[in-house]
Amino acid sequence: MNVLLLGSGGREHALAWKLAQSPSLSRLYASPGNPGIAEQAECVTLDVTDHNAIADFCRAQHIALVVIGPEAPLVDGLADSLRDAGIGVFGPSQAAARLEGSKGFTKDLCARAGIPTAGYVRTASPGEAHAALARFTPPFVLKADGLAAGKGVVIAEDIEAAEIALADMFSGRFGDAGAEVVIEEFMEGEEASFFALTDGTFVLPFGSAQDHKRVGEGDTGPNTGGMGAYSPAPVLTDALQARVMDEIIRPTVETLAGDGNPYTGVLYAGLMLTEEGPKLIEYNCRFGDPECQVLMMRLRGDLAAIMLACARAELAGVRADFAPETALTVVMAAKGYPGTAEKGGAIGIGGAEADGAKVFHAGTVRKDGELIANGGRVLNITATGKNVTDAQARAYAAVDAVSFPTGFCRRDIGWREIDREARQGK
Ligand code: AMP
Ligand code: GLY
Repeated sequence: MNVLLLGSGGREHALAWKLAQSPSLSRLYASPGNPGIAEQAECVTLDVTDHNAIADFCRAQHIALVVIGPEAPLVDGLADSLRDAGIGVFGPSQAAARLEGSKGFTKDLCARAGIPTAGYVRTASPGEAHAALARFTPPFVLKADGLAAGKGVVIAEDIEAAEIALADMFSGRFGDAGAEVVIEEFMEGEEASFFALTDGTFVLPFGSAQDHKRVGEGDTGPNTGGMGAYSPAPVLTDALQARVMDEIIRPTVETLAGDGNPYTGVLYAGLMLTEEGPKLIEYNCRFGDPECQVLMMRLRGDLAAIMLACARAELAGVRADFAPETALTVVMAAKGYPGTAEKGGAIGIGGAEADGAKVFHAGTVRKDGELIANGGRVLNITATGKNVTDAQARAYAAVDAVSFPTGFCRRDIGWREIDREARQGK
């Protein structure tokens, strides 16, 4: 089959790399892609907001499956338009993608289905928000309702900071995304990510991961899209994963289906492992970036076939096998990230992949044959090993083989688990 992959980041490079290994794949197209994806796919330029143009391209190239990488086109309803045109899509409808597109929607769904999550209030004006704050104790968790490029969550230590953040959110800084603000109870625990594929009815667990969201070592400094990740996440034991499936994922899929909005594609649950058990922090309607990179390093089998089964509601009986090894990815970012990142710095991949590591491109461009940095997160250096300690050593050996003078990375990806492995004598 022919597949069209939409997106241009490290997540999409990892998907392209795995799709290209699929026995069921004939041709892989990507839009817009990047220089790494171009090694696996034919990159084409399509306007992702022009749904008719994408459908026309799919008809002309006999595309059986469109894989939508990022959330924005999903929240914008691209999957619906393509499905209406008779084209297979991996990714949820606009109605189902509200799980990521509206935090209030997800909280209401959790309340209806009895899914464990932080207590909350939805507010639609500064006055309502101000009044609601009185019902919470610090730290205050404030979230712009809509998509805010990962910047819509503020944890305020005191009431003054909360009021300032609320004023900022309601001021229009996030556009429509800030028209509503959700105020939540603060949950304590360790965070982990869990992935599941679903065709609307059947649910297939699809691995676990942990990422590092802060830019600085020891998980300090500003939030980012993620500076590194590893999979599996040993904190999500089999027993906890079973609870997540039973208490969080299945009720979500069933509730959406019951509402007439079946979810298809990947459900990415951000979890807090609290003393009372796993609780949902948030849903994403796409793979994590860079979590996808570590999942794809471990996945065995035919990704294109698995995704097509999702799209066709034929997931029952499909298996997803992951190698037992740990995969770990280190994000190399351009200096300045997550603020204004320096563009144009030269990159040399050198022998970084010599020892089985994989360099996924996230924000690169080729100019006059040279590879240069063209984004905040630039490369995802990914390796596997027998545990996190081993995978980390291999990933940093590959990082050290890369030349990227205007880039930087954290040197401690995986530290929490590496500490645990040291304590357990692994
Ligand atoms: P989100 O975009 O909803 O994942 O939130 C971003 C980050 O804020 C999460 O990864 C958590 O670290 C933190 N966070 C969000 N909601 C809560 C909560 N209710 N309690 C504690 N931390 C939270
Ligand atoms: N790495 C976090 C995310 O993709 O949302």
